[in-house]
Amino acid sequence: MTFQEQILQGIPAELPIKKAYPTDANRAPKRKDILSTDEKQLAIRNALRYFPKKWHQELAVEFAQELKNFGRIYMYRFKPDYAIYARPVSEYPAVSNQAAAIMLMMHNNLDPAVAQHPEELITYGGNGAVFQNWAQYLLTMQYLATMTNEQTLHLYSGHPMGIFPSSKEAPRVVVTNGMMIPNYSQPDDWEKFNALGVSQYGQMTAGSFMYIGPQGIVHGTTITLMNAFRKILKKGETPAGKIFLTAGLGGMSGAQPKAGNIAGCISICAEVNPKAAKKRHEQGWVDLLIDDMDTLLIRTKQAQEKKEVISIAFIGNVVDVWERFDTENIRIHLGSDQTSLHIPWTGGYYPVAISYEESNRLIREEPALFKEKVQETLRRHAASINKHTAKGTYFFDYGNAFLLEASRAGADVMAANNIDFKYASYVQDILGPMCFDYGFGPFRWVCTSGKSEDLEHTDQIAMNVLQEIMVHSPKEIQLQLQDNITWIQNAKKNKMVVGSQARILYADAEGRSKISAAFNNAIAAGRIGAVVIGRDHHDVSGTDSPYRETSNIYDGSKFTADMAIHNVIGDSFRGATWVSIHNGGGVGWGEVINGGFGMVLDGTPEADARLKNMLFYDVNNGIARRSWARNDEALFAIKREMERTPNLKVTIANIVEDTILKDLF
Ligand SMILES: NC(=O)c1ccc[n+]([C@@H]2O[C@H](COP(=O)([O-])OP(=O)(O)OC[C@H]3O[C@@H](n4cnc5c(N)ncnc54)[C@H](O)[C@@H]3O)[C@@H](O)[C@H]2O)c1
Repeated sequence: MTFQEQILQGIPAELPIKKAYPTDANRAPKRKDILSTDEKQLAIRNALRYFPKKWHQELAVEFAQELKNFGRIYMYRFKPDYAIYARPVSEYPAVSNQAAAIMLMMHNNLDPAVAQHPEELITYGGNGAVFQNWAQYLLTMQYLATMTNEQTLHLYSGHPMGIFPSSKEAPRVVVTNGMMIPNYSQPDDWEKFNALGVSQYGQMTAGSFMYIGPQGIVHGTTITLMNAFRKILKKGETPAGKIFLTAGLGGMSGAQPKAGNIAGCISICAEVNPKAAKKRHEQGWVDLLIDDMDTLLIRTKQAQEKKEVISIAFIGNVVDVWERFDTENIRIHLGSDQTSLHIPWTGGYYPVAISYEESNRLIREEPALFKEKVQETLRRHAASINKHTAKGTYFFDYGNAFLLEASRAGADVMAANNIDFKYASYVQDILGPMCFDYGFGPFRWVCTSGKSEDLEHTDQIAMNVLQEIMVHSPKEIQLQLQDNITWIQNAKKNKMVVGSQARILYADAEGRSKISAAFNNAIAAGRIGAVVIGRDHHDVSGTDSPYRETSNIYDGSKFTADMAIHNVIGDSFRGATWVSIHNGGGVGWGEVINGGFGMVLDGTPEADARLKNMLFYDVNNGIARRSWARNDEALFAIKREMERTPNLKVTIANIVEDTILKDLF
């Protein structure tokens, strides 16, 4: 059967032969055994509803074994034999061109070169799933291949509920991932409902098919570091010779040394897992591997003296580095952390003074003791950071729940009011006021032809548009524009494409809209093929997350999720080709609601109207909410937008004088 025929058949008519698990695959960790006997039976009953009765006997035994061995039922037998990667869009069998582009995006997120655990349909973050099992994948592909532009496919946490009649203007796909009744949103609820096969963790872009490989995180980390240095450097100073100390060389954290190099500093990244550190070194993401502390000290001092731009991976625990640099009086300019503290008890954060192997044994065999050691380490970690900040280090939480877990461990990280943390998050101090409040966020696009020439052409278009905008822009946003012009100028040279022909840059509503309109014109003129536009959920409007994207909201509303919900509904009727809303994301199940969209530009006037209408709302929704929260930069941005757009009328906050409140209670 050809690739097209296999897509069109959905669940095969004949039971496929059971296959051996590929030896070179990076397998997802075994999940918790959380279901009762009755619930395990329910999980099998749920899984079998995808298949004809005649297969039930055989598959029931096999799925029970999968549940026992892996804690989940992935239905490995049904993984198709064809290679999964973003093919040129014309290779997909489809009635709807929009649906074909969505298949391409799904395939990119399941491509073994892009995805973390492709056999388990996990794209990144250990649990960021596109589908829960291979039956959902097969059915979804079949639906997409056969649906028209007057139907909408509804995906419930990877499960294709069906295609329903809609209209050309409606989204082709509506995605929800992990939407729970709020009382059932604890981490173990994910374990349970995912094991039952009724919910999944979509992360920020996996479950919406918008993940584009490491490029997104390198760009975001570079922007964060450059702006962090701007905060602390005196006029005329540069990051050269200044130290950025952090931890983690994993999936996302591995971007830190590369971003450090682009920002022009000395970055030191501690990593307890030698394999992760070596992999990043082999890939050229970090310059130097060091595994003993004395060598690290010598090499760091050398780099400082010579003002080198260098990235160093230290194989060991980051707490040892913080503590030793304190006793040696080495000045750390920027400090952060990107260990996986959103999953602290299952290997996201390793305790100090215990070997990596022994820690892994404790996780399996003595979880209570492991938790104790993690919390002890968090207290030491924070105490050492406090010593450095007293000497002038600027420390920021990088959205990995470091301060949250440190506070839960009783570490000295609370501010005097005992409500806030002593240190700001990167969104509170950097990305919030410098980017999100002005509407700048991670806009991205994918050239569906699969041609690198198309990507180059779009890079050129984007650069021209940003340069034109720069000429008339207010001084408040010029640095952001300039950073992104520099990024796009070097984009090809930085060789960031893995998987689909994709690009990211930060732009505001004006930039996103003008770049997209120029793409649409180029498509209409036949210069490039169709383009998918979208964004990371980690953006101005898409995500409500009190310790990350909305941590710089100070009117008490950061624990609400209205903005993200309005965003997904608002985008859906303004022309998005697909929309998605997720529970989970980087900071954990129950801690964030995040959403996004994808839009296919096909060169038509309809696409031009859709992009303008939708991108305008997609960005300005968040600016309006941020301005209502009294954020100065957002007030500036929304007033400017209202001047440009007579149809826009946003409720503006009146600012109360402190003296009025002082003696009230
Ligand atoms: N702010 C953002 O934009 C952003 C982006 C991506 C990821 N994150 C967050 O950053 C965290 C890391 O993401 P990831 O994908 O790299 O996870 P990952 O699990 O792949 O990598 C984390 C690495 O930290 C290492 N590590 C753990 N404890 C350590 C310790 N004490 N000392 C030294 N190394 C240690 C682990 O061995 C692992 O390799 C997550 O919590 C994620 O949500 C934030």
